[in-house]
Amino acid sequence: MTAGVQHNMRVISTNEEMSQACREAVKPIGLVPTMGALHAGHLSLVDQARADNLTVAVSIFVNPTQFGDKADLEKYPRDLEGDLEMLRRHGVDLVYSPTVEEVYPEGFDTWVNVGPLADKLEGRHRPGHFRGVATVVSKLFNVMSPNRAYFGQKDGQQTVVIQQLVRDLDMGVEVVVMPTVREQDGLAMSSRNIQLSPEQRQAAPVVYRALCESHQLWMGGERNGDALRAAAQAILQAESQVDSIDYVSVANMTALDELDQVEGRAMVSAAVHMRAVRLIDNIVLR
Ligand code: PAJ
Repeated sequence: MTAGVQHNMRVISTNEEMSQACREAVKPIGLVPTMGALHAGHLSLVDQARADNLTVAVSIFVNPTQFGDKADLEKYPRDLEGDLEMLRRHGVDLVYSPTVEEVYPEGFDTWVNVGPLADKLEGRHRPGHFRGVATVVSKLFNVMSPNRAYFGQKDGQQTVVIQQLVRDLDMGVEVVVMPTVREQDGLAMSSRNIQLSPEQRQAAPVVYRALCESHQLWMGGERNGDALRAAAQAILQAESQVDSIDYVSVANMTALDELDQVEGRAMVSAAVHMRAVRLIDNIVLR
């Protein structure tokens, strides 16, 4: 924002008030759904939404239904005041920050299940995760009726699931996917990165390095899925801070099926554990 320009950001916590604010807002509305603890990755979505729309709405809601593990939910970083300050500086108009009871009142009993693609990769290791994501995103869309919604490539499978959801349920929201924002050493920015110990933080760029290795091979003409997966796997296995590998995948971008042979666009992705912290990342081969 230009210095001196008066900017009023409304922070709203009930869905009734939020839907009214969106009904009255100048269209088009761009929505950026988040779980807070905002960083430059989130802000890149906000800035794109600001550039594309007349009203920018951001939701901040740590959605309990997409966490399998209660401890993971409890230790998820939260900093509402810091988040609001950043959003004000980036010219956001409306912030939706509801309580869990507002989103899931007693008796809540309808779920959105996206087909088999939600059970692969992340879904296999985090059962129910995408049911929670698809349900809360549907609810956010219903409350705010955005014209566009912004998601990061960082959560590659999430973008595919949301696109399927929007198509299947005729939601009429334009889904905009933005590139992954990285630290200087390549680590994908994530709210969870602050949970890494100094040693883990130093080792964490290994995930991106592993994916880059596979990408390099692909650039050099390698099209065999196993060879591309093995190259990334080897680099992850060589890092002692990596305690376990959930998956290394080379999959197509529509159904997320593992590929024997890469033809056209594909996504190479990985998920690893460094003690209690789980890191995910991906690169699109195109
Ligand atoms: P959250 O992890 O807070 O991420 C909010 C949005 O920011 C997602 O679209 C995510 O992909 C994007 N994002 C996160 N890190 C990024 C990075 N380094 N570069 C670019 N974009 C990045 O994803 C969720 O919340 C939730 O699942 C949500 C969609 C809000 C539903 O609860």
